[in-house]
Amino acid sequence: MSVSDVASLVKQTVDIVDVVGQVVPLRRAGHRHVGLCPFHQEKTPSFQVDAENQLYYCFGCGSGGDVLSFVMRYQNVSFGDALRYLADRYHIVLPEKGDPRTLGAGGADAARKQREMLFSVLRTAADFFYRQLHHSSAGKIARDYLQRRQLPQSVVEAEKLGYAAAEWDGLLGHLTSLGVDPELGVAAGLLAKSSKDSKKLYDRFRNRLIFPIVDEQERVVGFGGRALSDHLEGEPKYLNSPETAVYHKGRMLYQIPRAREACRRNRQVVLVEGYMDLLAFHAQGFYRVTATLGTALTPQQVRILGRMADEVVLAYDGDDAGEKAMMRALPLFLQEEVAVSCIRFPDGLDPDDFLKREGLSGFEHLLQGRRDLGGYALRKILDGWDGSSVGKAKVLKDLQPLFSAVRQPVLRSEYLRLVADRLSLSEEIIERQWLHGSRTGAGPSRAPRRRSFQPRAPQAQTLEERIVRLMVHHPELIPDVAASEAVGHFQEAGLKTLAEVILGSPHPPDHPFQATRVYDGLTDPGLQELFTRLLLEECGLEEPRVQLTDWLEMVLRRRIKQENDHLNEALRQADQDGDLSRMLDILSKKVQSLKPPGKGEGPIG
Ligand code: UTP
Ligand code: MN
Repeated sequence: MSVSDVASLVKQTVDIVDVVGQVVPLRRAGHRHVGLCPFHQEKTPSFQVDAENQLYYCFGCGSGGDVLSFVMRYQNVSFGDALRYLADRYHIVLPEKGDPRTLGAGGADAARKQREMLFSVLRTAADFFYRQLHHSSAGKIARDYLQRRQLPQSVVEAEKLGYAAAEWDGLLGHLTSLGVDPELGVAAGLLAKSSKDSKKLYDRFRNRLIFPIVDEQERVVGFGGRALSDHLEGEPKYLNSPETAVYHKGRMLYQIPRAREACRRNRQVVLVEGYMDLLAFHAQGFYRVTATLGTALTPQQVRILGRMADEVVLAYDGDDAGEKAMMRALPLFLQEEVAVSCIRFPDGLDPDDFLKREGLSGFEHLLQGRRDLGGYALRKILDGWDGSSVGKAKVLKDLQPLFSAVRQPVLRSEYLRLVADRLSLSEEIIERQWLHGSRTGAGPSRAPRRRSFQPRAPQAQTLEERIVRLMVHHPELIPDVAASEAVGHFQEAGLKTLAEVILGSPHPPDHPFQATRVYDGLTDPGLQELFTRLLLEECGLEEPRVQLTDWLEMVLRRRIKQENDHLNEALRQADQDGDLSRMLDILSKKVQSLKPPGKGEGPIG
C-alpha cells in the first residue's frame, strides 16, 4: 500500500466533522458546519466544515484543507503522524514498512509501548544526571562551572540541570544495573554504538552540563549538553540528543510549557537562540521566553509560537550571525502570519551577557524599543542602496523574496509604500519591475517555500479568482473555459495551476463538481487552501455564462493592453537613448498589435 493509498483509506473512513468537532464546537448550517476557528483568535465564527466534500476552510485566517491537513495543523505534527494518529483513533489497520509484526491495530499499540519505554529511560537518565551534579564528587567541576556562569541555585534546581561525568560508561553502567535494555538507551539517543564494533555501546554525553528538554506534557524527551571548558579541542560546545521517536527538534522548543503558561497573561513571547540565554532570563524571573534547540527555526515552531502568543520578539545574539539568523527567520513568520519584532543587543552581546551587564530593566528598555522585523529588514536592505539607478534595480531584486513571503495585504501595502518612498518610485513601477524580473528569469532565486501560493484576503478578489470560483460552482461551464485561451494568460501562478488541474480532471456532465478528485490532485498546501476557500465561498451569480464570457474576454484584453504598455515603455526608452532604428522596430510591432487578432488569438465572444 502506498502512502497515498493509506491516506485515502484514512480519509474514507474518518469523518472530518467528527474529528474537527472534537476540538471545535460546531453548529450545523445546511450541509456546512460552522465554528470558531482554532487557528486564530476570533469572536464570530468564520471557520466552516463542508461535510459533503470533507474539507474545511476559515474565512478569517485562510487556513483550509482536508481532515489530514487539519490534524497536521491543529496538533503541529507531520503528515505521517497525522495519519498514524487518525488510524489509531479510528482503529484503521495501517501497514508499516518492512515489519509485518507491527501490522494492524496491534502496531499502534506496540509503537505506543515503545514510546512509553523511551520516556521512562529518559526520565531515569535525567535523574541520574541530576544526582551526578548534586551528589557526586565528580560533579564538583560542573557545580563550579555553574557558579562561574552565575546561574542561581533556584534555576539549576527548577530546570533539573544535571551533569554527565567524564566516563564512557557511567550511564551505560547505571542502566545495565537497573536491568534496562541498552538498546533502549540507543533508541533514546543516550547511548551510541561504537563505529568499529556495533555491539559496543558508550555514553553519548560525557563531561557535560546537562539541560533536560521536555515536551508539552513535561516529559523528558532529550538533552542538550554543554562542554565545561571553552577550550573545546574539536568537541562541539553543545552536544544535543539526536532525533528519536519522541524527540523532534524542529517541532519543539526549549521550556515551552513554562513559556506557554507565562504567555497566558501577556501574549508576547521572547525567542532566543541558546539554552544559557534562556536560563539567564529565568534567573531574572522572566519566563515569557523560549529557545530553539540547536537548529534553525522551522515553520512548525513558528506555528507553535503563533498559537501561544500574539507577538514573537526575536532576541538573538547581537553579532552578525545573530542578525543573519533573524533575517532567515523572517519569511517563516510572514508566511505563517505571525507578528514578529526584534531587539538588537549592543556591542554584539548575547542575551545572557546583556542581562548580566544591564539586568532585566535594561532588557525591558530594549523591549519597549523593539522594532517590527519586516520593517527592520526592509530598512536594512534599503540602507544598502548606493543611490544609483542600477542600484535601485538591485535593491528591488533583494527585496523581492521578502515581498513574496508577505501574506497579509495590509502589511504588504505598508512595506510597498515604504520602499516606494525611499527609492522615489511609484508602487506600480516597483510591482512591474518584479513582474519583469520573474518573467525574464532574472528574478532572485527564491528559497523553496512551503507554500508556493499565498492566498489573498477574501475581499481581494481578482478576475482570475472569479473565473476559477465560477468553474468550481458551475462545472457545466468548464468546457467554455477550456475553449478560451484565458487560463494560459493567467498571471497568478497558483490560480493558473489550480485552473489547469480543474481543466485536467474529468467532469462528467450532469454531475456535481468532483471536489475530492481535484483536491487530491493538488500537492501544494497553499493551493489546497485556495481551493477549499473557492469551494466554500458563495458564488451567487445570476447569469454565470454571461459573466464568464465577460471575464474571459477581460483576461485576454488585459494581456493585449500589457503588451502595448510594454511597447510604449520600450519606445520611450529608445527615444531617450536616441535609438531611431529600435524606435522604428517597436513602432512596427505596435502597428501589428493593433491589427485584428488572428485565429484563436482574440477575445471570444
Ligand atoms: P552559542 O554558541 O551562541 O552559545 O549557541 P551560547 O548560547 O552563548 O552558550 P554559552 O553562553 O557559550 O554557553 C547558541 C545555541 O546554539 C546551539 C545550542 O542550542 C546553543 O544554546 N549550539 C551551539 C549547538 O547546538 N551546538 C554547538 O556546538 C553550539
Ligand atoms: Mn552565551
